[in-house]
Amino acid sequence: MRTQVGIIGAGPAGLMLANLLHRRGIEAVVIESRSRKEIEETVRAGVLEQMTVDLLNETGAGERMMKTAMFHQGIEIRFGGKRHRIDMHKLTGGKYIAIYPQHEVIKDLIAARLQSEGRIVFNVSDVRLSNIDTEAPVITYQNENGDTEELNCDFIAGCDGFHGPSRQSIPKEIRKEYEKVYPYGWLGILAEAPPSSPELVYAHHEDGFALVSTRTPEIQRLYLQVSPADSVGNWPDERIWEKLHLRLSADDGWKLTEGPIIQKNIVSMRSFICDPMQYGRLYLAGDAAHIVPPTGAKGLNLAMADVQRLAWALEDYYETGRIERLAGYSESCLRRVWKAERFSWYMTSLLHRHHGYTPFDYQIQLAELDHVTTSTAAAQSLAENYVGLPLEFGEPSLSVT
Ligand code: FAD
Ligand code: DHB
Repeated sequence: MRTQVGIIGAGPAGLMLANLLHRRGIEAVVIESRSRKEIEETVRAGVLEQMTVDLLNETGAGERMMKTAMFHQGIEIRFGGKRHRIDMHKLTGGKYIAIYPQHEVIKDLIAARLQSEGRIVFNVSDVRLSNIDTEAPVITYQNENGDTEELNCDFIAGCDGFHGPSRQSIPKEIRKEYEKVYPYGWLGILAEAPPSSPELVYAHHEDGFALVSTRTPEIQRLYLQVSPADSVGNWPDERIWEKLHLRLSADDGWKLTEGPIIQKNIVSMRSFICDPMQYGRLYLAGDAAHIVPPTGAKGLNLAMADVQRLAWALEDYYETGRIERLAGYSESCLRRVWKAERFSWYMTSLLHRHHGYTPFDYQIQLAELDHVTTSTAAAQSLAENYVGLPLEFGEPSLSVT
């Protein structure tokens, strides 16, 4: 089989790239190791930056999101039993975030892709990349019947997440990897209960971090800081509610709404960056190239920003033969990626507790929390990063005027 761009992975990055390329008249084939049902049911992110909302609308995949997403203009930061609102809309000149589950984004992107008669091959295995440093890279894989298939392409987009094979295909001596593993995990639950809060609540507490988010008017998404080595078996429902009530307690009578817990899972937290994000004719995008801890809600949004730049660079190449944008892909992505890494690390450090944490560390966190909730300049900096830096951020020429 032959195509212009072979895309490995049908996560948000791979599917969005395929849709963006289609709109530019560029052919692509997406291969995915899991089934359609599995990827459409995996619960992960919930917060979309305005830039991601715009991209979904641009590719014609935004209709359901515009009808059912919740658009928030602020977040709450809670500490010392007090509630503080960061008015992101006001602080950023009118920006907002959308709460719309990642698996719904996936469903919309798959539907848009299939409507435009684009190919997605599910259930593949044994994926290998070869000839990536030539003009004729190849992806080989086994299809669901066990037959070996070959995909000959002009370019390969490695959108296969943190554990996929694409990043490993860049020679070790070329790749520089930066990593920080945090001593925190998040226990995430879905509970059948109406929202406790009109906006997201990020809570700092001596007992650990807690987060109130939402999915639909009937379902809440809640998170608790736990040990990364912990397992859901240690977390019966009563213990979860007890900790959520403790960590979210407020001195003004605020109430957490409870309901049946329908899903629980634990994720560990790391920061990771692979530099460069390209080698020969292979371009990495999304979690394949970088991971952020979830506290800043940036992972999916960074994946979208990467593929927007890649689609733009490929369009330039196919329309004019110019390779400058492709050549500068990694550099322009990484400038934005490092800003999001910094912000995610900052939010994580600001809100979590861990063993070995001293009374000094605790007071520093409280001082910083006091600062961001009382200084307009500090709140504006947090808001600007939370809603997402402009899409053009990363262009080498952009600087403060
Ligand atoms: P993935 O979603 O990992 O997709 C990669 C795909 O490649 C997968 O479907 C995988 O099956 C496939 N694949 C892997 N190996 C192969 C192979 N060999 N061959 C073919 N296919 C392969 N981000 C936000 O922006 N906002 C949030 O609010 C947010 N909250 C989060 C909360 C939690 C609890 C977690 C865990 C993450 C959160 N994130 C958030 C991060 C976000 O979910 C990820 O950053 C995002 O999924 C990255 O998309 P991706 O397409 O790069 O990778
Ligand atoms: C959600 C996830 C996050 O990582 C975050 O910072 C806020 C909300 C969520 O899943 O809704």
